[in-house]
Amino acid sequence: MKNRLIIAVSGASGTIYAKNLLEKLKVLDIETELVLSLGAKAVMVYELKNDINLEHLATRVYNNNDLGAAIASGSYLASAMVVAPCSSSSLAKIAHGISDNLITRAASVCLKENRPLILLIREAPYSRPMLKNMLEAKEAGAIIMPASPSFYNNPKNIDDLLSTITERIIDLLKIENKAAKRWKNDA
Ligand SMILES: Cc1cc2nc3c(=O)[nH]c(=O)nc-3n(C[C@H](O)[C@H](O)[C@H](O)COP(=O)(O)O)c2cc1C
Repeated sequence: MKNRLIIAVSGASGTIYAKNLLEKLKVLDIETELVLSLGAKAVMVYELKNDINLEHLATRVYNNNDLGAAIASGSYLASAMVVAPCSSSSLAKIAHGISDNLITRAASVCLKENRPLILLIREAPYSRPMLKNMLEAKEAGAIIMPASPSFYNNPKNIDDLLSTITERIIDLLKIENKAAKRWKNDA
């Protein structure tokens, strides 16, 4: 199956991760299907300010209310899905099979079709329900990716910091990315 990724942005802090990931996937010439929740759009106003338009970075864009969209069906050949960032509300729905919008429906489809689903969780600290929902989603087949960057490669700016997460996501999707910084790569 060709790489055709669903990128969902929900209303957690860290919408800049979605921007960074979409920019990298565009450079890598990967087809992307973008859907943003209402919560994501609200958070983006605070976080992305003048740079709020992510649509131009994607191949196709869907409305989160459009439950009849292509990505709502398992017969549409999406290869994988990333929810970046994933709010605790979307996590709870995905963990329990609640498909009341396009993001949660497409995630539910990924799980039933055994396609990779990466949830980039952003919350601090975690409550018991959040931890239980992460385990539930993991056991259903999702990959739980905490939005916690690493520092061992000495990131110089926010972009470097974001890349420590988005490059790992691209690796998890098994997409070749020669630009990725790797630990002791030159050793
Ligand atoms: C500025 C702002 C920051 C938020 N940050 C988070 C967050 O980091 N994690 C989270 O789970 N929810 C966060 N929320 C709350 C979610 O946006 C809210 O629960 C929303 O209903 C999630 O719905 P969605 O998953 O459909 O986008 C934030 C809301 C706002 C306005």
